[in-house]
Amino acid sequence: MVNLSTKIAGIKFANPIFTASGCFGHGKTYGKFINLDKLGAVVCKTITLDARQGNKPPRIADTSGGMLNSIGLENGGVDNFIKTVVPFLKKQKTKAIVSVAGNSEREFTEAVKKLNKVKIISALEINISCPNVVHGKVKGLFSQCENETAKIIKAVKKVSKKPIIAKISPNVTDITIIAKACEKAGADAICMINTFQAMGVDIRTRKPLLGNIMGGLSGPAIKPIALKMVWEVYNTVKIPIIGVGGIMDWEDAIEFILCGASAVQIGTANFVNPTACTDILKGVEKYFKENKIKNINELKGKIKL
Ligand SMILES: Cc1cc2nc3c(=O)[nH]c(=O)nc-3n(C[C@H](O)[C@H](O)[C@H](O)COP(=O)(O)O)c2cc1C
Repeated sequence: MVNLSTKIAGIKFANPIFTASGCFGHGKTYGKFINLDKLGAVVCKTITLDARQGNKPPRIADTSGGMLNSIGLENGGVDNFIKTVVPFLKKQKTKAIVSVAGNSEREFTEAVKKLNKVKIISALEINISCPNVVHGKVKGLFSQCENETAKIIKAVKKVSKKPIIAKISPNVTDITIIAKACEKAGADAICMINTFQAMGVDIRTRKPLLGNIMGGLSGPAIKPIALKMVWEVYNTVKIPIIGVGGIMDWEDAIEFILCGASAVQIGTANFVNPTACTDILKGVEKYFKENKIKNINELKGKIKL
């Protein structure tokens, strides 16, 4: 038996392979292709206090080395989530992490208070990095600003009965400043990275590929940048990092762990291959076995310099 377990925010996960928010729904559809119980955690699509319709279509587009999206956090709101998704999550053995976003401190904290009552949620991922929405008076993303980051994380930490994972944006000059602000504000872990702000144009119609004009770039193109950022943050903060960005196979996942990730999330890969998460898990397990790795800590951040 290989020990793949990983501890984040005081929670023991069976393995470090999680799904990435927005790339796996809430697990219902993907559960037809893979055994959800095998995953370290399912991270649900971001929900908000009130329902949102999302952005104008087209909302996704193909691009070299990845994909563009501008979904715009379409969801039915937190009450609807509790009513329609939680009963499904209750039946799963895998841990559930719920992603929450809002336009204001109040919207974040109200949603978090409602989720406090749901026992089966292991942790909350606070999405302060979605590139596809305008946050009230805040131009840009909360996690593009050190003070806004601290304000939201402090506020949710104060009301949350669950561990807080701050999901941050790569669209900044120095991501370590934002990571430090999260840690100082009380975040239990950091999830990084969300997508890079990006766009594309159809030269035949001369129209933007996305209805929202701009969106976020994900997939293999962003992996080397994500790795560099994980490594930088690993060398800056003490709280655990969940690495995400362009992980398409098990080798990519091992690279993230070597750069300091305590777990990884699989996003765009699910759109190409619905069994990506369990395929990656199998590969990681084999690597641990072949290299006689007893514990993820033997690998985490252990790049030979
Ligand atoms: C279609 C799509 C929808 C996404 N929706 C969300 C979301 O609701 N919340 C969130 O935190 N991240 C969202 N993301 C970002 C992913 O969780 C992930 O951070 C990003 O795509 C980088 O990982 P990847 O390259 O493996 O996809 C979305 C990404 C895509 C492609």
